[in-house]
Order: sequence, then C-alpha cells, then structure tokens
Amino acid sequence: MSFYALIPAAGSGSRAGGGGAALKQAPKQYQPVNSIPLIAHTLIVLAREPRISKLFVVLSPGDVWWDNYEWQGWEDRITVLRCGGTTRAETVLNGLEAMADQCSADDWVLVHDAARPCLPGEMLKKLLDEAGEDAVGGLLAVPVADTLKRDDGASRVDATVPRAGLWQAQTPQMFRHGMLRQALRAAGSDITDEASAIEQLGLHPRLVECDSRNIKVTFPQDLLLAGLILQHLND
Ligand code: CTP
Ligand code: MG
Repeated sequence: MSFYALIPAAGSGSRAGGGGAALKQAPKQYQPVNSIPLIAHTLIVLAREPRISKLFVVLSPGDVWWDNYEWQGWEDRITVLRCGGTTRAETVLNGLEAMADQCSADDWVLVHDAARPCLPGEMLKKLLDEAGEDAVGGLLAVPVADTLKRDDGASRVDATVPRAGLWQAQTPQMFRHGMLRQALRAAGSDITDEASAIEQLGLHPRLVECDSRNIKVTFPQDLLLAGLILQHLND
C-alpha cells in the first residue's frame, strides 16, 4: 500500500488579495515567503517524508504562474494536474479522478492545502502513524482554544457556544483513494474539507492533534506570520 499527497492549489486567494487568472496579482500560493513561493514550502515538507511516494499538485486550468518557477529536480516526485475546479471540493475530486490510473483504491491519499506551508514534519509523521492504523483514516486538528460567540446577525452576542469537544480541522486529511472518491462524488461541491464528505457516509475520521503552527494562509497578514513560523521551524 502506498501513500500519495494531493495538493489543491487552484484557488484565487481572494481574501489574501489575489485576483485569480484574470487579474495581475498572483494568488497567495505563489506569493514569496522567505524568498521562495509559498507553495514551494508546502511541497518541500511533503517531499521530505520518505513514506510519501508522489505529490499530485492540482492547478487551475488557467494557471499562468506555476511555469514561472524552476522545478528542476522535482520531476520524479511531482505530477502537475491542470484540472482544478471552481470550489476546493471540485478541485480535490478532479485530482482524485485524474490520478486514479496511477494508484489503487486502497492507497492512502493525503489531501493538503497548498496554503498551509508551515506543517511541521513531525506532525506529518504522527498523522501517517496514527491515521495509517485506522480503518477510516483521519486528519490533523487543533482543540479550540478561544471562547466562542454566536452573533445575532447585528454584531451583538446572541450566545456563548461551549467549546468543549470542538476542534478546528486542518490538513493533511488522509483517506483511502477509493473511499474518498466515493465520498466526494456523493457529497457535492459545498463541503470545505474531505472529512465532512467521509462523515456523510456515516464514518468517523480519527482526530490527530496538531498545533497552531500549521496555519492556513488566508489574509495578507498571514504571509508574515508564515514567514516567522518557517524561520523558527528551519532553525
Ligand atoms: N483551492 C483549490 N480550488 C479552489 C479553491 C481553493 O484548489 N477552487 C485550494 C486553495 O488553492 C488552497 C486551499 O484550497 O490551497 C484552501 O482554500 P482557501 O484557503 O479558501 O484558498 P482560496 O480559495 O484560494 O482563497 P479565498 O477563499 O480567499 O479566495
Ligand atoms: Mg476559498
């Protein structure tokens, strides 16, 4: 049985100021962080893990940025698929379909956001160890730390939501290729992570505890934070 990584990288990064294919500013996955594009940090962590045999990067069909960078030396590890969809769920499903002839239904696929460049290598190993022993699979996640408020629709607090038992889902999320493809085909394009598609099959993915270093770069200030975390990780 093999492990593969599937990296959805077809978003426009609108909340970080990216404009998508039609506009000039490159999406966040191509913004420089400590002198290299953000997505390169993401790919380096996955490529360093010897158990992962191949990385499938899913780009938007209109992506004009990937080819601006040197990827020499990566040819054996990375397959670029230009079949991204209009939502993250569509991108992931299109990627799974496109890689289907290169893996078997029982192989593990780790779906990891291009926009999460600070995944600590030891957390990746922990996920492979723990979810790899699980019948369903699992995901990295962090117990919610802050007090949670629900608003009343007019910027006032309606209620405090008890945070006990609540987790923030991160990536990688790791499931078997066949099961994940079946789950995403059934779930439609509104879901925002793979685990929720698996949950809709009545299954219960394993939560593997990570920490707040594994941020998703979403807003412009997150680029600065990612640079600082990466400096610390690489020290
Ligand atoms: N993604 C994708 N295909 C899409 C939308 C998102 O592959 N149609 C990817 C992004 O490239 C990113 C990951 O999914 O690596 C997480 O999505 P998000 O942080 O929401 O990125 P964007 O959709 O690009 O950003 P925004 O929502 O601010 O536009
Ligand atoms: Mg998005």
